[in-house]
Amino acid sequence: MPLLGHAWQLHSRPLEFLASLPAHGDLVRIGMGPYPAYVVCGPEAAHRMLTDSRTFDKGGPFFDKARVLFGSSLPMAGWREHRWQRRQMQPAFQPERIDAYAGVMAEEIDRMTAVWRPGMRFDLTAALTTLTLRIVTRSVLAAEAEDEAVADVQHSLHTVIDGIYQRVMLPLGPLYRLPTPGNRRYRRACTRLHRAIDGIIAERRAAPGGDDLVAMLLEARDEDTGEPLSDKDIRDQLVVMSGAGFETTANSLAFAFWLLSQHPEAEKRVHDEVDKTLAGRTATPADLDGLDYTRRVVHEVLRMYPPGWFFTRVTTTETTLAGHRLPAGTALLYSAYLLHHRPDLFPDPERFDPDRWLDGSGDCLPRGAHVPFGGGNRKCIGDQYALVEMTMALASVCARWSVHPDPGAALRVQVRGTLGPGKLFMTCRPRGAAADG
Ligand code: HEM
Repeated sequence: MPLLGHAWQLHSRPLEFLASLPAHGDLVRIGMGPYPAYVVCGPEAAHRMLTDSRTFDKGGPFFDKARVLFGSSLPMAGWREHRWQRRQMQPAFQPERIDAYAGVMAEEIDRMTAVWRPGMRFDLTAALTTLTLRIVTRSVLAAEAEDEAVADVQHSLHTVIDGIYQRVMLPLGPLYRLPTPGNRRYRRACTRLHRAIDGIIAERRAAPGGDDLVAMLLEARDEDTGEPLSDKDIRDQLVVMSGAGFETTANSLAFAFWLLSQHPEAEKRVHDEVDKTLAGRTATPADLDGLDYTRRVVHEVLRMYPPGWFFTRVTTTETTLAGHRLPAGTALLYSAYLLHHRPDLFPDPERFDPDRWLDGSGDCLPRGAHVPFGGGNRKCIGDQYALVEMTMALASVCARWSVHPDPGAALRVQVRGTLGPGKLFMTCRPRGAAADG
């Protein structure tokens, strides 16, 4: 369309639009408003772009707007600064740390289901969002369940992340300064969030120590100047880390429960597996080996509905990709959804089939074909954390409960900052001894 280019299609029917692009080649030029951008449609090109982060750096039309709001935190940093930041934070996601977070995960899963009653009908997406928000804020901020400052973060983070998404996708400039109820809510949530996190940082500065993410950020020193990070830098990192780590996992879990409810044979296999491995108790990381099928369900959900469906890069120098010469400053878009729905890579891509991931089947895929967590040195820092959390939550809930959508309910995929199922009203029924009794 004149002026808008393909931006309107990307906005109004993004998934159909993206899925239509591979027919035009491995790198497809589209118009984003007055600017051209290239969508990476081939796995080899995606792999090259993801692994050469110096040539294909973070940046691009939406990204630059997000940077204003998120500061220069890990996902926003340019490649040079990113390497240093990532080294400081990576230890917080080592396997032994994830085992420690698993205690919080188990506690919060039990907390969520403790209020469920037989026949109760509720919005499962909302319940899972509360679950993962509580888990990630407690892990990232190293806090106990009843910590007041963390409760403030939990109350305000969702509104802030939603507000930022709206401001990035719909840049209405001065209109966001008007005293409308929505703008006031956003500003109040920002103030509450910042005050709570600043309070946590101040407390930890006063009593240094620990081996958690906050301690790591407080101890970090700039390689050249030896300067510590400012409170604002630390706050940005903590907000972004928490923000990246709840809607993604909640939406994937909600899709998983929906898909199981629509595929009784897959649901029965999960139930048989959790009955054998957990016998009604909450999962721990030690159970993961016995939860092979449940893990395949999680992988298949991330293939069909990758929550991070759309990211951008920008070339830092002239280069060639998939046979196209790209000048420095070219905007690129990549979408896991697009790659995961190519029928030549994933036959019958709309079919939910966890057995696609049977022993090593994924190893036969071309590099860059399956990228729910991205790739290269910008790959999701929380990937293992998320996989453990989702498998534990799915298995633990299924060990005791089954959830059922309303008769005739249909899935409406919502495309926002993350891909999600929107409100998902489900009725829960106890399984096992409670159900039999
Ligand atoms: C299902 C769950 C998740 C999915 C699908 C997911 C997906 C992704 C993807 C695709 C990227 C790369 C973006 C790019 O290439 O531009 C990314 C980066 C990132 N994710 Fe996740 N994510 C998930 C969960 C989490 C969790 C639980 C955390 C933190 C606790 C987290 C924190 C981050 C951070 C900080 C980055 C930036 C990494 C960097 O640039 O070095 N994510 N995520």
